[in-house]
Parts: sequence; structure tokens; C-alpha cells
Amino acid sequence: MADNIILIGFMGVGKGRAARALAAQTGLYTIDTDNLIVALVKKKIRTIFAEDGEPCFRALEQRTADWLRHYVHNTIVSTGGGFFMVNNLGETGRIVYLHSSLDGILSALHSHPKATRKIRKRPLLQDAAKARALYDERLPLYRGVADYEINVEGLDGDEMAGQLIKTLKLPGAAG
Ligand code: S3P
Repeated sequence: MADNIILIGFMGVGKGRAARALAAQTGLYTIDTDNLIVALVKKKIRTIFAEDGEPCFRALEQRTADWLRHYVHNTIVSTGGGFFMVNNLGETGRIVYLHSSLDGILSALHSHPKATRKIRKRPLLQDAAKARALYDERLPLYRGVADYEINVEGLDGDEMAGQLIKTLKLPGAAG
């Protein structure tokens, strides 16, 4: 099994923020599955959804997961909120579910200085009722695939990284 650290969780929970802070604190590299897909097809996520449809995006996620499993080691991987549904993710590394209540996620997003942009780039966050239904549907699924769960509600990136270091028993403080 590859020895990556895979961060999963709902849109906007702070997977990328946690990954970057953890990279800074440990000296490990980090990559983000949405960024890999955007670079691969040279389109923004919302353009892929609008022009090619969600099934096409999910296929790109599976392709990305297969690449990670074969070629990526000892790396922190932040993922899109639906990436946990790919096949064989457990063979790629230890999976950590970053948890927050939906209200916690939405209030942090709405109070962010770039709130409009952060919401606009996420096609599945456009309709509040649908987002809530998706959150409720996914919560048990995230917990089902995760090896670890961390409650990150109200934490900043460095605090999340601290929790990850403790939970995963990682050597901290990059030199
Ligand atoms: C998605 C989450 C997004 C992005 C895409 C689909 C999802 O990533 O992959 O819009 O299905 O939850 P973030 O979790 O970074 O918002």
C-alpha cells in the first residue's frame, strides 16, 4: 500500500488549507486532486461540470486516483469533496476525514473575503437545499471509508495540521 495521507471531507471544510499547513509543518509535499484535473484537461471545475457533465468529472477523478495509486508516495493529498467515491482509495494511503457541521462550513465560507468566488467555483454548492441533502447523504459514507476522523470546525490551517500530526503520529516541525 502506498503511504500517502489522503484528506477527504465536504466542500469548503478546509482540506487544501490543512494540507498546505501540514506540508509546511512536516516538510512533505502536497498535491490537490482538483488541481491535477484542472491541469490535465485545461478547464476549470465548473466548466467541466457545465460542458461535459458530472459523470465526466467523476471519470477524471477515477483516472487521477489510479495515477496516484501507481506513482505517488509519501505525499499529502487534498481531494475534492466527492473524490472519496473512487475505487481502491484505501490502497493509496491513510484516509483522514475532516469533519465539520454544514453550518460551520457555510458560515466560514460566507465570512471569507473571497466568499463569492469560493462559492461560485463549486457547482454542487449553488443550491442550499441540495447541498444540505448531499452533506447528509455523504456524512456516513465519509466515515465509512476513513481510517481516521478529525473534527476541524473552527480550526485554522495550522491547528488542523497539529491535529493531523497528533492523530497520524507524524514527525512535525520541518527543518
Ligand atoms: C465536489 C467538490 C469540489 C470539486 C467538485 C465536486 C464534490 O471540491 O471536486 O466541485 O462532489 O463534493 P472541494 O471539496 O474542494 O470543494
